[in-house]
Amino acid sequence: MVTLSVIKADIGGYVGHSESHPEILDLGREELEKAKQRGLLTDYHVSHCGDDMFLIMTHSLGEGNVNVHRLAWDTFVKGTELAKKLKLYGAGQDLLVDAFSGNIRGMGPGSAEMEIEERQSDPIIVFMADKTSSGAFNLPLYKMFADPFNTPGLVIAETLHDGFVFEVWDLQEHKRITLKTPEDIYDLLVFIGAPARYAVKRVFHKASGEISACSSTDKMSMIAGRYVGKDDPTMIVRCQGNFPAVGEVLEPFTTAWIVEGWMRGSHHGPLMPVALRDAHPSRFDGPPRLVALGFQLADGKLIGPRDMFDDPGYDEARKEANKVANYLRKHGPFEPHRLPLEEMEYTTMSSVAKRLEAEWIDLPIEEAASSTTIADQQQLQQPSAEVE
Ligand code: 13P
Ligand code: 13P
Ligand code: MG
Ligand code: MG
Repeated sequence: MVTLSVIKADIGGYVGHSESHPEILDLGREELEKAKQRGLLTDYHVSHCGDDMFLIMTHSLGEGNVNVHRLAWDTFVKGTELAKKLKLYGAGQDLLVDAFSGNIRGMGPGSAEMEIEERQSDPIIVFMADKTSSGAFNLPLYKMFADPFNTPGLVIAETLHDGFVFEVWDLQEHKRITLKTPEDIYDLLVFIGAPARYAVKRVFHKASGEISACSSTDKMSMIAGRYVGKDDPTMIVRCQGNFPAVGEVLEPFTTAWIVEGWMRGSHHGPLMPVALRDAHPSRFDGPPRLVALGFQLADGKLIGPRDMFDDPGYDEARKEANKVANYLRKHGPFEPHRLPLEEMEYTTMSSVAKRLEAEWIDLPIEEAASSTTIADQQQLQQPSAEVE
């Protein structure tokens, strides 16, 4: 068995939140090389999207392994020391606790892991996003695994025809549910259409039970209880054979879907698929970016990467992203460019509301009636009714 572990964090931006500093990435490579030399890792690749560093690792220790998680944590801590020396922006931004306690989950960094039986040929794609949230992959995952207009294999390939199983997490209630496609798609969409609360964690091949996709669902603001930066999620997807083909996995990103994130983590913006060389969001700290690194696994070794969006086939999606970005930007501080109040990462609402509290005057009953339920109106009009 081979375990794929992608663990990522923003430990400092260069310049502002726009990019990772090359010395930080080199430090990541040095630490993982040492871990490979001492036999902890089978292989690794260190990469980045914007100000987030992604540690892509293979090993034989299973998911949630304490030594692999500690390696990632220690690497981020060392990287933070260097980021502080270089005075990078937001040094240690995603390290929300002081000390490692056995598992990286709930400590700030995002992770996606899967333990697999390596196939005769096992193409995988690691997605790395910046300036967006966990849940941003819901729509693309639906298209990959459940939409025959995206993935013709669902119709014409024997191996895909039975469909897939989606494991969905409720990030508020801390519950999970599994729903099958195609039979449960309407139920599935009720939930995953609300990506701020429900996120697709895993997708499995229905007939064999094999895992095909795993995404990071770590929610920074929920862990920290305040805005500290966006989740900037990652996702691993296995392709071909029992799974969608590489081109079917990439096809959803020919549309620049609107996601949460962008400036101050508080705006809707288009997710732009880019080659690594363009993974440095600067326009209004965005637009949100997505990189796809392709690998072939060979006895746990990562053969690659291939920079999958480095293809003129995505030029139109990038153009579309810029058009959507211009259009949304015109809305300035108005929704739906700005996120609805309950999803805002940054807000002055409570302090402004407090300051102006005394200036709000109750509407007369007949005016208030136009925005009050009939039941409440009766109460307003008969304030003593309950006392009887
Ligand atoms: P090949 O015939 O090149 O193997 O391609 C098959 C396939 O899956 C294309 O998406
Ligand atoms: P990051 O989450 O990528 O650090 O971005 C934070 C931000 O506030 C961008 O404007
Ligand atoms: Mg940052
Ligand atoms: Mg980031």
